[in-house]
Amino acid sequence: MVKRGRVSGSKLGLEKNRSKSIFAILEKNHKATFQNLDRFYEALKNLRFEGKQNLGKNISEIREFVSYFKREIKTHMREEEKILFPFLQTHVPRLEPMICLLLSEHGDFRNCLNYLGLSLSEFRKTGSDKTRLIHGLNEQGTYLVCLLRGHMWLETQSLYRAADRELHRSEKKQLTEQITKSGGRHGLRRRSAHAG
Ligand SMILES: [Fe+2]
Ligand SMILES: [Fe+2]
Repeated sequence: MVKRGRVSGSKLGLEKNRSKSIFAILEKNHKATFQNLDRFYEALKNLRFEGKQNLGKNISEIREFVSYFKREIKTHMREEEKILFPFLQTHVPRLEPMICLLLSEHGDFRNCLNYLGLSLSEFRKTGSDKTRLIHGLNEQGTYLVCLLRGHMWLETQSLYRAADRELHRSEKKQLTEQITKSGGRHGLRRRSAHAG
């Protein structure tokens, strides 16, 4: 079960966080996603090994996680693409190759999520091949878990730390303001959304 308290919630509260490092602000979003990825992986194992008797429960749990990924992580990634990455490309050009890699992983994540969504829709249809669909869900779901774990690890250990280390104080302030101003439901502002 996705822990809603952890994956939704109000904005990050940057006013309170102004004294914190930009790293702490960015990193906060990743922690809950790591936990939800572990839970998603458990749900995939249950789907694979618990058989028909728990099929309905396990599929609805997978659906819940896929909605969470769509709602929270896609939003977080859009925010990174709109604000964080362009900002770092301008102010720390040596990060460009890493950002290209991270962008291509965002693309992989979206493709994987589309596949999961389509498989779940097909699952509802009478006469669909459930065994094949379960196999595909497991394969793509496991890939998504590995992809996001590696992606977030790279962002946390390299990109966010570089932002913290290499941006000047005024640039950090500017970046924090851009995140704050972006408005709406944006991953980077959320209390504990993601994300990738
Ligand atoms: Fe990302
Ligand atoms: Fe991220």
